[in-house]
Amino acid sequence: MKSNTTCKKSKNPIDVLMEGMYPRLFPENLILSPHLNEVYELALAYYESNILSEDELVENGAYFVRVGDRMTRHFQMCTGEPLRLPMHSSSRLRSFFEKNQFRTGYATHGLFPYRGKFHPQMIKALINIMGLKPGDTILDPMMGSGTVPIEASLMGVNSIGIDASPFCRFLTQTKYNALAISQKPLDEALKNAEDLFKLFSEAVGVPVSGSKIRNHSRKTEFSEVNESNATFKPDIVLRLSDRIGDVNRHVLDFLLLAYLDSAGYSERSKRKPPMEQFKAILERYVFVVKKIQYILDGSESLLAAADIQQGDARSMNIEDVCVDGILFSPPYSFAIDYLANDSFHLKIMGENIERLKANMVGLRGKTLKEKYLFYIEDMSKILAECARVLKPERFCTIIIGTNDSQLSNALDVPEEKVKGLHKIIIDLAQPFGLSHVRTLERQILGMANTMRHEYIVTLLKTCS
Ligand SMILES: C[S@@+](CC[C@H](N)C(=O)[O-])C[C@H]1O[C@@H](n2cnc3c(N)ncnc32)[C@H](O)[C@@H]1O
Repeated sequence: MKSNTTCKKSKNPIDVLMEGMYPRLFPENLILSPHLNEVYELALAYYESNILSEDELVENGAYFVRVGDRMTRHFQMCTGEPLRLPMHSSSRLRSFFEKNQFRTGYATHGLFPYRGKFHPQMIKALINIMGLKPGDTILDPMMGSGTVPIEASLMGVNSIGIDASPFCRFLTQTKYNALAISQKPLDEALKNAEDLFKLFSEAVGVPVSGSKIRNHSRKTEFSEVNESNATFKPDIVLRLSDRIGDVNRHVLDFLLLAYLDSAGYSERSKRKPPMEQFKAILERYVFVVKKIQYILDGSESLLAAADIQQGDARSMNIEDVCVDGILFSPPYSFAIDYLANDSFHLKIMGENIERLKANMVGLRGKTLKEKYLFYIEDMSKILAECARVLKPERFCTIIIGTNDSQLSNALDVPEEKVKGLHKIIIDLAQPFGLSHVRTLERQILGMANTMRHEYIVTLLKTCS
């Protein structure tokens, strides 16, 4: 008896290899970004190429460098003149930027290190795939270092960014303002870097080279100096103005961010004295501003608006049904202590870390089990809030990592029976009218012992 199923016949390898895989996935006139080497990236490129028009791909596409004979704006942003990193950059930094030239480090995304920072290229693609267009509004309720608001504004998409940490608000706002900051005072600041270093040292403290001892509970000398007199004196604006001319809030914040960044480096490494480190970082910061403004070429006023807030994702200060898309990454269930990471900066800002801690998702609870239960409770509230503020037929994408061996310990179940956090999130979201559409898996490089994968989970709001 003949079977009904059509049997696939073997093909001539010469024909298959000569044709290649890409023409089956992409139209011939689309040229993919170089260094695109992960499956999830190929998937995002595939969706982008199917969802966007050619004009949209040129203007806002993430994974293509050319459409026919037109270079994409993403390509220009990542490679546009001036191309070089400053001469002083370490070989490690140089190699990082080269390898990740199209993924990260462009525009102001590369300013200030932040753990768990998104690759902006991936965010750009997700904004496109969620169907957001210029003039729409996207929300990141846990914005961290602000990748979503900054990328959205470059794409003409308005944004609301929220984080429980006031340092994240400062960091994101400063990176956003830097897209259109005036360059003249920055050039003056570079010429007077030594004076500025002294001013900031007096105002917020002096870093002690190589004082950070990893995996050691002793307080660093740098922190000790500053925790005792951690007040940021407002008269610094006047004293800065004496040195470099008119200093507005944007310039002050930008210079302070460079100082804090350099202080962090000095804490971690003795390679350069703190003053040299500050000069090097400031040079890089000014370079970043010049590079993106060169690409924007006077169109800074067309950047979309970003409403950057300090707040709680579990009860957001936003109207019902007002955003066209949501994109965020929550902390892990046994979270990085973001407040401890930023304690130096938070103390300078006069913040009470213990009070802030009570609102941080992933930090509540003592035992692993308790932490897990609080986490689930908090994530459920956040999903309810997302459903409340999202318009119907719109997407909410959550990027979430899971650590099955820690969950197995916490819940006392064998690892193979653990339900990953990405699956738990899908179940938690369902009762709020957020239905699962697609999950993409992505490897986390460099964390092989603790967390190997994270998941890009896309949900659709199916009821109003
Ligand atoms: C994984 S990080 C986000 C990183 C971000 N995607 C980026 O590109 O930088 C998670 C963030 O959630 C924030 N967070 C924790 N609890 C929060 C809460 N209740 N409301 C708002 N943000 C919170 C943390 O401060 C942290 O910045």
